Amino acid sequence: MAAREIDNWLQMKLFHEVPVSICVIDRGFRIVQANRRFEETYGEWKNRPCYTVYKDRDERCTNCAALATFVDGKVRSLEEQGIVGNGQSVHHYFVQMIPIVRPDEMINYVIEMSTDITTEKKLEQEKREAERLAAVGETVAGIAHGIKNVLMALEGGMYGVTTGIEQGDDDRVAKGWTMLQENITRLSRFVKEFLAFARGRVSQATMVNPQQLALDVAEEFREQANIANVELRTDLQEIIKEAPMDKEEIYSCLVNLVSNALDACQMSDADRSYIVTLSLKDQGGILSYEISDNGCGIDYEISKKIFTSFFSGKGADKGTGLGLLTTKKIVHQHGGKVSFESEPGKGSLFRIELPRENLPEVQDRIDLAVSDGGNGQRKN
Ligand SMILES: Nc1ncnc2c1ncn2[C@@H]1O[C@H](COP(=O)(O)OP(=O)(O)OP(=O)(O)O)[C@@H](O)[C@H]1O
Ligand SMILES: [Mg+2]
Repeated sequence: MAAREIDNWLQMKLFHEVPVSICVIDRGFRIVQANRRFEETYGEWKNRPCYTVYKDRDERCTNCAALATFVDGKVRSLEEQGIVGNGQSVHHYFVQMIPIVRPDEMINYVIEMSTDITTEKKLEQEKREAERLAAVGETVAGIAHGIKNVLMALEGGMYGVTTGIEQGDDDRVAKGWTMLQENITRLSRFVKEFLAFARGRVSQATMVNPQQLALDVAEEFREQANIANVELRTDLQEIIKEAPMDKEEIYSCLVNLVSNALDACQMSDADRSYIVTLSLKDQGGILSYEISDNGCGIDYEISKKIFTSFFSGKGADKGTGLGLLTTKKIVHQHGGKVSFESEPGKGSLFRIELPRENLPEVQDRIDLAVSDGGNGQRKN
């Protein structure tokens, strides 16, 4: 009894009650049968061509999937975009073409079953837009962060020149001026590299002297550490073999960490002399840079957040919270890792470990510094 009831329902009602739009088209693409759902969605259909009903067109679609199914008898599934309500609204649907194959293999009719996916498409588009906006925000903060690091060095240079002039100390003026020159070059390089990055820049590894890199960073912060009354020490293992890395990128990681360490000293209110140490060793095939400070330290709650996007404990006008995030990304791209230890109130130590075997391969580098104003031609 129950089986017959089900059979009856399947035969009498299934076609009209399934939540899918179904129509049957003949070889002239005219709709010869359709279910209720189809009529509710697409309106009047009797003897009208499917391309007119679905898409408000006067002629068959290019790449017509139904035509292909008439030819080869294969079931096809595809996503389509149609127009409903007299051209009022665009809608998306997922459609399947199923041939009705006669015993003599002739195909006179194709069934088209379509499911509306407009809502899903809209959500997908909204998600993509939200992701795009988030990426734009991160990019803008990234640019500002890169420029900020250089600006700090420029301020150091400017301070050197100003105090040098005031004190009639030519040496000091010369040092400050060199710092200004170097960092204007660095800024210009950063902007050019950022543009290259925006066009799809990948890390550019060259052979770099890891020790020299650390010395350059220390030199960049010398003036600023003086002003902050922090002793900046270096403890660098002598003559370390060159290593393939993206010089600017690793440089910016070290700048981030030293800059954080100096900030931590300034944020501490303990009565002691402050020291920041930048050290480097090359042991067991691993290059490790360590930056230690005896500043404010990091308490447990903050330590959980510092490697997440945009967390800054320095207030909105000072930190962007992008420094450690960028550092982590760059170090990972070099096959290494960043870690830290900290004791609240006593200080912190950040460590970048770069196993030599994971470092990227050296590639021919496009020297952006000698391009002529960005029109793509190189000076000779
Ligand atoms: N050496 C450190 N000592 C104490 N706290 C630190 C130290 N390094 C990082 N932090 C904490 O981690 C937070 C995140 O650091 P991060 O470098 O990512 O951002 P930021 O320094 O605040 O901003 P930005 O680097 O963009 O200028 C800092 O705001 C600070 O609270
Ligand atoms: Mg920082």
